[in-house]
Amino acid sequence: MDLGCGAGRTTFALSKLGYNNIVGVDIAENLIDYANKYSKENGIKVDFKVGDATQLKYKDNTFDVVIFSYNGMQCIPGEQNRKNVLKEVYRVLKPNGYYIFTAHDRHDPKSSHLDFWNDIETKWESGINEKNVECLGDLITIDQAGEEAFIHFSTIEKLEQFVKEQPFDIIEHIHSYDIAEETVETKKFAGDTVFWAIRKK
Ligand SMILES: C[S@@+](CC[C@H](N)C(=O)[O-])C[C@H]1O[C@@H](n2cnc3c(N)ncnc32)[C@H](O)[C@@H]1O
Repeated sequence: MDLGCGAGRTTFALSKLGYNNIVGVDIAENLIDYANKYSKENGIKVDFKVGDATQLKYKDNTFDVVIFSYNGMQCIPGEQNRKNVLKEVYRVLKPNGYYIFTAHDRHDPKSSHLDFWNDIETKWESGINEKNVECLGDLITIDQAGEEAFIHFSTIEKLEQFVKEQPFDIIEHIHSYDIAEETVETKKFAGDTVFWAIRKK
């Protein structure tokens, strides 16, 4: 399952790579409509469904692998909602199934935003919540379409804590720059992130 698949950017790529029986799930009806139209027009066998990652409509032990690409899980507002995604993904994965996702690291030493987050953290620790957000790391940004978008910047330690609330084994978390250098074009819209691979026990 490609969870939070949007218009199918990663879903179609997975299909092209030869993966079968893929389902793309997203909460945005218009994106799912677009993805279904595209797959129909291009004869691609991918099933796209509207669905909420915090309460999935699939039976326990259904999927071999779930991915949530482009930091999508962290775009869901509310700490409990993000914890519910981990809970739901755990439930729908088969035993030994993998959940692969990306999430920014607020403490990334190579990030150009490190000083920004250090400043916010110092203030937070002395009781100042400048933007009146729910969690340290919450941010409202302006997306490529010029619209307000929510994103939560976690730390590796915090995310490890959340992941371990379900019986997942953490296989790996690795900064994107330790895997490959992004192209100049990609760098224009996407910053460094961390790839996580975790496995249901
Ligand atoms: C950053 S976008 C990533 C889209 C796609 N994975 C990609 O890489 O192009 C995050 C996606 O998560 C979806 N999303 C947000 N909340 C969701 C939820 N509760 N359940 C399912 N999808 C959700 C959004 O509609 C959006 O398409």
